[in-house]
Amino acid sequence: MTTIGFLACETTLPGKGGGRRGDAFEHDLMIAALNAPFRAAGLELRVIDWEAALSEFEDVSLVMLGTAWNYQDKAEAFLSKLDALEDRGVTVCNSAQIVRWNATKTYLRELEECGAATVPTLWQRDVGQAELLEAFHHFGCDKLVVKRQVGAGALDQVMITRDAVPGEDWTYGHPAMLQPFLPAIATSGELSFIFVEGELSHALRKLPASGDYRIQSLYGGTECVHQPSSDEAEAASAIVAALPFDTPLYARIDMLRSESGQLLVMEAELIEPYLYPQQGPQLGRRLASAISKRISAL
Ligand SMILES: Nc1ncnc2c1ncn2[C@@H]1O[C@H](COP(=O)(O)OP(=O)(O)OP(=O)(O)O)[C@@H](O)[C@H]1O
Ligand SMILES: [Mg+2]
Repeated sequence: MTTIGFLACETTLPGKGGGRRGDAFEHDLMIAALNAPFRAAGLELRVIDWEAALSEFEDVSLVMLGTAWNYQDKAEAFLSKLDALEDRGVTVCNSAQIVRWNATKTYLRELEECGAATVPTLWQRDVGQAELLEAFHHFGCDKLVVKRQVGAGALDQVMITRDAVPGEDWTYGHPAMLQPFLPAIATSGELSFIFVEGELSHALRKLPASGDYRIQSLYGGTECVHQPSSDEAEAASAIVAALPFDTPLYARIDMLRSESGQLLVMEAELIEPYLYPQQGPQLGRRLASAISKRISAL
């Protein structure tokens, strides 16, 4: 049996008392989906806190970044751990190089330069009233979403309407992205395309709870299987093909339609995205087979 590490964190690991995140059930669903197909492929899945000592990785051949969902709080330590694992000969998926590229959302600008259609964005070192007014004018919209260039789980994200712009003394306090609010989030929803080794595995449609616009399960968002049209599959595959490094083991491309119906990239999630195994029952088998190939090519 080859040991495969599935990185978790103190708030996604089971058995740590009452301190689990509200979406830790997604960790349990992933493990339940991977265990049997991994074992059938001769792989033993071991769940490890990414902050565990390096000695706990002694017999691990490859790690998936899994549910290391607190890495943003300790980004330097996380990257150092990935570097240290790679130095010891552990294959890290996705690699430290990919994580560095994907950790700041300015990668979206690079994708755009490669021809990808992304959600229109203004990039600012920080945001105050003047930047908000400029963005309303620039996009010709009445609602803006302001989010961090480094962030996840909609942390610190705000929606601001033209009739309720904060006062002159308001500042956002982080390097930021400003986007027009795209109403399709509540109708056609956010589409997620899950790729394993560059091949589309499955897709799903995520909708916010009524009264909210964030699709994350923590805010009551729900998801259902989506059968992608060939245009949608092509648009998402083109994003994976445009990534400026070798094919990642897994990728989740999140897309949203513009008001004119164009499919736009919202994020290319390459670090520790939830891969929605319930909407893609073949996910475990596909990952096991891709990992086995990677290991035999070492
Ligand atoms: N421009 C937008 N128009 C409409 N809704 C948006 C827009 N930007 C973000 N959202 C909503 O807010 C959610 C969080 O935004 P985004 O995915 O960009 O941030 P995040 O912090 O990286 O979150 P996560 O890591 O959980 O994906 C989206 O999933 C979507 O529901
Ligand atoms: Mg997102």
